[in-house]
Amino acid sequence: NEVMVTPLIRTTISDDRGDEPCYDGYPASELINKGYEIPHVVGLLWDKRLISKQEAEIIKRIMMLSADHGPCVSGALGTIIAACAGIGMSQSVAAGLIMIGPRFGGAVTDAGRFFKYAVDNKMTVDEFLTYMKKNHGPVPGIGHRVKSLRNPDKRVKELVGYVKSLPIKTPCLDFALQVEQVTAAKKDNLILNVDGTMAAVLVDIGFPVDSLNGFFILSRTIGLIGHWVDQKRQDSRLIRLFDYLVNYAAPKRREVPPLK
Ligand code: ACO
Ligand code: LMR
Repeated sequence: NEVMVTPLIRTTISDDRGDEPCYDGYPASELINKGYEIPHVVGLLWDKRLISKQEAEIIKRIMMLSADHGPCVSGALGTIIAACAGIGMSQSVAAGLIMIGPRFGGAVTDAGRFFKYAVDNKMTVDEFLTYMKKNHGPVPGIGHRVKSLRNPDKRVKELVGYVKSLPIKTPCLDFALQVEQVTAAKKDNLILNVDGTMAAVLVDIGFPVDSLNGFFILSRTIGLIGHWVDQKRQDSRLIRLFDYLVNYAAPKRREVPPLK
């Protein structure tokens, strides 16, 4: 007797039931043997699309440029503190990943969403900035704690230069660069940042807005794993902040009054 069961989940991206995984229908080994690379797998699993060589090269460069940015940023610091507390790799990397959000690394999706909204609605930069200020607050993809017009972010220059050298239309990137012109003139650290640049480029090559933070998360995971292995290799001690790094603004020690 056959029993009909309602499926618990529905998947549309991959199938592991044969002798090897198929990504959007394509066997992994065939992808390898026909010269496809990791960015193509990203394209298949995140957008169900066999991306072109040119698009794959752009994604590879985004990944290489955003794989790590040293130990001081929120994500790496989270992973390093966990590693030094003796926490295992997956949890330490997760501790770093949890830092990826609206201020650090996780502004890619919203940057893409709002730049696209502005381009689709043919907004001027001034209209866009007024709209953002009124409705959403800081513009995702704009601003950096240490990079500025005087201390430019080479990663951004590299990616913009490469993408602009290609024969493709880049309306979102062009708009984002126009936004930067206005914001950076107001305050010199309000530059187009890595999140904003990759967001605009990825929207321009057709990636869905909801997938965009994934590009930073995926790339930075390479660095976070590196930081965990690095601390482990050095057998680093537990980290405890030094008192002098803290502004103790709590009330001075005082007598507890009698319980009433
Ligand atoms: N849009 C508009 N105004 C901004 C923006 C922005 N994106 N960022 C900062 N400002 C303004 C602030 O309102 C503030 O103005 P005020 O002096 O009049 O009060 C001033 O610039 C300084 O702001 P801070 O928050 O002190 O700047 P900080 O250096 O701490 O912020 C940060 C850096 C968090 C990146 C900020 O610019 C921001 O939130 N940007 C948007 C989110 C984003 O894109 N994050 C990704 C950064 S890149 C990365 O993580 C890989
Ligand atoms: C990063 O890539 O981690 C950053 O741009 C954030 C930073 O503060 O350097």
